[in-house]
Amino acid sequence: MTIPPSDRAHANADSTLAPPPECPAHGPGGMRRLYGPEAEADPMGLYEKLRAEHGAVAPVLVHGDLPAWLILGYRENLDVARTPSRFSRDSRLWRDMREGNAAQDHPLAPIAAWQPLCNFADGEEHSRLRGAVTDSMARFDRRGIRRYVTRFANQLIDDFAEVGRAELVNQFAEHLPMLVMVQLLGMPEKYGPRLVEAARDMLKGTATAVASNDYIMRVLAELVARKHASPGHDFATWLIEHPAALTDDEIEQHLRLVLIAAFETTANLISNALRMVLIDPRFRGDLAGGVMTLPEALEQVLWDEPPFTTILGRWATGDTALAGQRIRTGDMLLLGLAAGNVDPAIRPDLSVPVRGNRSHLAFCSGPHECPGQDIGRAIADTGIDVLLARLPDLHLAVPDSELRWVASLMSRHLVALPAAFTPSPMTPVPKPVSPATWTAPPAPPRQEPAVATPPAPLPTRRSRWRSLVRWLRGY
Ligand code: HEM
Repeated sequence: MTIPPSDRAHANADSTLAPPPECPAHGPGGMRRLYGPEAEADPMGLYEKLRAEHGAVAPVLVHGDLPAWLILGYRENLDVARTPSRFSRDSRLWRDMREGNAAQDHPLAPIAAWQPLCNFADGEEHSRLRGAVTDSMARFDRRGIRRYVTRFANQLIDDFAEVGRAELVNQFAEHLPMLVMVQLLGMPEKYGPRLVEAARDMLKGTATAVASNDYIMRVLAELVARKHASPGHDFATWLIEHPAALTDDEIEQHLRLVLIAAFETTANLISNALRMVLIDPRFRGDLAGGVMTLPEALEQVLWDEPPFTTILGRWATGDTALAGQRIRTGDMLLLGLAAGNVDPAIRPDLSVPVRGNRSHLAFCSGPHECPGQDIGRAIADTGIDVLLARLPDLHLAVPDSELRWVASLMSRHLVALPAAFTPSPMTPVPKPVSPATWTAPPAPPRQEPAVATPPAPLPTRRSRWRSLVRWLRGY
């Protein structure tokens, strides 16, 4: 059994655990750091070292060398996510925060400090807030959202179609989700481009991040005021009308949560799936030959490159045990979604394609499982479909080895995806759709354990992640 993080962080180092002198990969007590050079250079390698040393649950250090437990096992991730009575989403339980070790200026404070949002609540309060979000999402119609995605994807493609070259992260993947979400929320279209810039700026934690956040909150407050006066067929109106009777502040905060939750994750999914399509001839050959559908391709990416690599966090409500580790009240746990997805216990051979199996951890599980997953999938699926149909010879303009990644504790994303294609004329853009409507399909049953289907190996890619969270404030 490993010494709990709370003891280990400040304990005299056990000689068997003592790191090499001045090793930046280790901190107090010999625990490995989940940030810094090793995590940046080879995070998946780091996870495998932790798995070999500790099994399914490993003690780690996050920024400020604060102790935490990283959940590496697939089943253990599900256990933690599905048992809020033992592992709460309420960060006010975090001992290090209560004891003042994670002050307001701590790098994790923006995502760990408790807020009156559904993603920090459990039990009845969670049901009230989440119910308003999911009921309002359920009022959208699937075809309506796909028409929006098609329209905005075509608009974005029109901006570069005649040039023959494009940088697909910046010119496509990062814009499409926000343009669609702005429409679904009920905002005038003109806000789209400015909101994309503000959200990106805020999430990157630049000097103007606070001003960008203020701008987003101002736009959302105006939206709520406008929808009170003039209701529409949109998410903001449906939140206002919901019987849970959210206050205006709660509505604005949840609109922001949805906007931010949808933006970076869906942009990552689009970028990662596009890269896979562009670099892997077998994969693209599969798509063209109809052997692997685009939705199946997305599931493969959700297994191998989940947009959230780690979720912070859960907090132990009492002393307990998990995979042989002694967890103490107030300990912080990080759900290792990317690590769990490649747990050898469920995927002994990573080259075996998953063939559409949806039992990955990319959307988490339990009461906080992503309520927007079908919207995220629809935006990525339809957007990529439109892009490949418009530019059929789209290919990477630089060697794959030259692509660069930026990472945080919770995610990593491609910096740029330069691509080239035969210049193509602009196409007529479909007329606006109204109202935006989406109906979530029935959730497919979770298949457990994960798949193991025949040959046609896909390449496995390993992530490189960088340092800690500057983005996803309030998520
Ligand atoms: C590929 C895209 C997406 C991915 C990978 C993703 C992933 C996740 C994950 C892993 C969680 C669970 C966090 C936890 O357990 O603590 C989550 C929660 C959430 N997501 Fe998503 N998400 C995506 C798209 C979206 C979209 C499009 C929306 C909105 C339309 C959305 C709205 C939310 C909300 C509101 C929560 C909080 C739910 C709660 O705490 O009860 N997400 N997402």
